[in-house]
Amino acid sequence: MSDGTTNGPARLRDVHPAGEIERILIAEPEIRARIMELGAEIAADYAERDLVVLCLLKGGIYFTVDLTRAIDLPITLEFVRARSYAGMESTGKVELSWIDGLDIGGRDVLIVEDIVDTGLTLIEIWRALEAKRPASLAICTLLYKEKRLAHPIPIAYIGFAIEDVFVVGYGLDYDERFRNLPHIAVFQPHESSG
Ligand code: PRP
Repeated sequence: MSDGTTNGPARLRDVHPAGEIERILIAEPEIRARIMELGAEIAADYAERDLVVLCLLKGGIYFTVDLTRAIDLPITLEFVRARSYAGMESTGKVELSWIDGLDIGGRDVLIVEDIVDTGLTLIEIWRALEAKRPASLAICTLLYKEKRLAHPIPIAYIGFAIEDVFVVGYGLDYDERFRNLPHIAVFQPHESSG
């Protein structure tokens, strides 16, 4: 199937009226290999501990699913919804849901995130979780934009440090689209889309 604007066949999954997928930044096999390394590292660090893996939705879903299967330890899986972006911009305000019901007192919590951009989301989550007195708190992020970090926070596990480009796929969205791409891709908006 073609969208009529490209030479080759365009997959519907890759098409959006506000912009286009410019290139693949991290291919699926690379993601898979790095996750196996991270899983082994985390398993070694948390052996004999009471590990709670806390997935930040929605973006962290694909990474968490693959990462937890690469951690050869008994774990508890929990979810928190964190939202701060509208289109390509942070609103500067993080909405958190489902924190109240978390049973993490005295337990070792690993927060799993798709991307650390400004760091605002993680700062807010960190504060909310600290109040519940876990035994330890740590962060694992698939992607890290070092240049954009405005809220310094310790990150224990980083999949890939990336340049400052807008990325989609493998959980990351533009306007709720592209989360189900199997790779990380650069999304370039058309100029009129800002
Ligand atoms: C995205 C992403 C991170 C956060 C990173 O979430 O999943 O949680 O932004 O940005 P920051 O470091 O500047 O806070 P978003 O608000 O888009 O919600 P989503 O996970 O549902 O896509």
